[in-house]
Amino acid sequence: MATEKLSPEVQKIQETVVGMYSENPWPLNRETDEEMGWRLKCLGIVPEDYQNKRVLEMGCGTGEYALWYAKNGAAQVTGIDLSDGSLAIARERQQEMAADHVDFRKMDILNCDLPTDYYDFSYSVGVLHHTGDPLRGFRHLVRTTRPGGIVMVSLYSKYSRRLLRAKQQTCKMLGGDDIDKRVEWGEKLFSGTLRKLDKRYHGLNTKQIAYDIFGFPHESLHSAGEVLRWFDDNAVDYKGSFAPLRIQDYFYAFSLPEYAVFRSTFSGFPVMRWVADLMDMVSKRIIDSESSIVEFPRPGALSRCLSQTMWIPFGLRFNCFTMAGIKRD
Ligand SMILES: C[S@@+](CC[C@H](N)C(=O)[O-])C[C@H]1O[C@@H](n2cnc3c(N)ncnc32)[C@H](O)[C@@H]1O
Repeated sequence: MATEKLSPEVQKIQETVVGMYSENPWPLNRETDEEMGWRLKCLGIVPEDYQNKRVLEMGCGTGEYALWYAKNGAAQVTGIDLSDGSLAIARERQQEMAADHVDFRKMDILNCDLPTDYYDFSYSVGVLHHTGDPLRGFRHLVRTTRPGGIVMVSLYSKYSRRLLRAKQQTCKMLGGDDIDKRVEWGEKLFSGTLRKLDKRYHGLNTKQIAYDIFGFPHESLHSAGEVLRWFDDNAVDYKGSFAPLRIQDYFYAFSLPEYAVFRSTFSGFPVMRWVADLMDMVSKRIIDSESSIVEFPRPGALSRCLSQTMWIPFGLRFNCFTMAGIKRD
């Protein structure tokens, strides 16, 4: 594939973002098992979608998700990223796992030289919003996926990231272009925010969280409606969302046994855990998840508006949303 030149603005963003993640790889450690079961089920993704399949992660960081799919039955996993620091950790872990079916490559997701219509399951989690041209990255994600394959994308929410954005702007104002200074200000002024997130990651990423949140080299914010338009324009049919985008899908989500494991990611967020436990109790009484839907209709404008409004008070824990789709044949 011929590479297209990046604009000087996007090039500058890329250098700053990749430089930051190279020095402060994300995530240093994650208990991936605790979040994957419930999240994938809420997205309508089943093990058959990735087991014995070709999987691609765009912006794999330290490879935690890629290695999770490798461990859970994927036939071949490719992870691409530009940050040397993150890739070094990813490769070290791959060797420890002796995962010969995983390949970590240094490659730009905006100029991605991977085959067209090849992967069965392609995803990008928490990356496109850092690129300066997320739609271009999304197009590559779809291009590399085979017709009938799954595309999954996770982006910062325009709504639930708002409060955090105000804190980030304060750090940016005080620290200027110096990322280390911004982080220092974040640690001084918003230590409570960092403590909460530190609990959510069970103390595994203390310094990395500060950089991921307050280093703030570049990020764009997005809405579910916008991602649906990307789906439409690139021949992708909606499959599901996490958190759900229709009220009735919350009842299904909380009726699932997998919530019990995901629940530990609410440490640091007691009010959210209390609300979630209440939903869990109610949902299990009214829905039998064994015989229930596993296909989610495309959410209408009102449902999207209600759900995204509901996400706002839970913004610190849920400031990224995930949407999955199927590439049309
Ligand atoms: C927040 S981390 C996400 C890592 C991983 N997806 C996860 O959630 O575990 C963002 C990653 O995107 C990578 N990245 C940003 N822009 C990129 C680009 N244009 N091409 C490849 N990787 C990029 C960074 O190097 C960094 O490792």
